[in-house]
Amino acid sequence: MSSDFAAWRATVQVDMEGMLLSFLPPVTQPPQRLHEAMQYAVLDGGKRVRPLLAFAAGELFDAPRDAVARAAAAVEMIHAYSLVHDDMPCMDDDDLRRGKPTVHKQYDEATALLVGDALQAQAFEVLANATLDAERRIAMLATLARASGSLGMCGGQAIDLASVRLVLSLAELEQMHRLKTGALLEASVMLGAMAGKTLTTADTEALRAYAAAIGLAFQVVDDILDATADSATLGKTAGKDAADNKPTYVSILGHQESLDLAEKLRQDAHSALKPFGDGAQRLKSLADLIVHRKT
Ligand code: IPE
Ligand code: IPE
Ligand code: MG
Ligand code: MG
Ligand code: MG
Repeated sequence: MSSDFAAWRATVQVDMEGMLLSFLPPVTQPPQRLHEAMQYAVLDGGKRVRPLLAFAAGELFDAPRDAVARAAAAVEMIHAYSLVHDDMPCMDDDDLRRGKPTVHKQYDEATALLVGDALQAQAFEVLANATLDAERRIAMLATLARASGSLGMCGGQAIDLASVRLVLSLAELEQMHRLKTGALLEASVMLGAMAGKTLTTADTEALRAYAAAIGLAFQVVDDILDATADSATLGKTAGKDAADNKPTYVSILGHQESLDLAEKLRQDAHSALKPFGDGAQRLKSLADLIVHRKT
């Protein structure tokens, strides 16, 4: 990882923290407990991979920083909401998230449900208020909606829950991963780019190919880490997939083949960026980060 990339990443992460805080209702405003729980779920944690992707894609297409910040915050809020609900007893029933007790443990289940609902609404409000022309904003809102709903993240979560104890084919597993995790990562890339110069068909195709590769790679690596890392490093309970009989890349392909697939997807992501030349260096580094991360 180049020092330039490391510094850029740290800056985006710090900036994002401030922007997320500014886009969330203050804890002094009623209902205070809900607003406090929303901040608990979003702030001070997470790798912020989705905002990093949005910023890197935004830079490539000269997007205004304020608009990219709103797109990045919107995706991160949807992501945070998906984690709050994913951890609830009716889904994965997890106690630990980002090194802290999960929202339903720290607060209660009804609050966790409402935190997710409210964060989802907040995400769309934040994006709707970006300083961009209306046509562009509507296209971006539609992209985020599609990635979040039953044909995106929620659909993937539904397949995940319906797949416990089943042996999925590789095609079914890939579809589940592309939806539950890939969709929001893809949206992060596309939204960052859509906030900038008008995309040609070739731009859109190249970005989609990149985003599809890193989107799938991200969940392949998540499955590998669940099976190989410890809870302290991950900030969430390790070994949970096997304990819960979830089909994963590790359970279906095995450890080494999963690693090989992640590496192949990293190379696919790099290849997809060729048309953009040197301007895509940060997106390349993010593909490397997604595949080589230890947490
Ligand atoms: C975890 O996402 C859930 C998945 C979609 C695999 P991240 O690994 O991006 O979680 P944070 O945001 O860094 O906590
Ligand atoms: C979660 O997948 C994906 C979403 C939250 C949409 P996982 O259930 O594997 O995520 P972790 O491992 O709990 O972070
Ligand atoms: Mg899950
Ligand atoms: Mg989970
Ligand atoms: Mg997981």
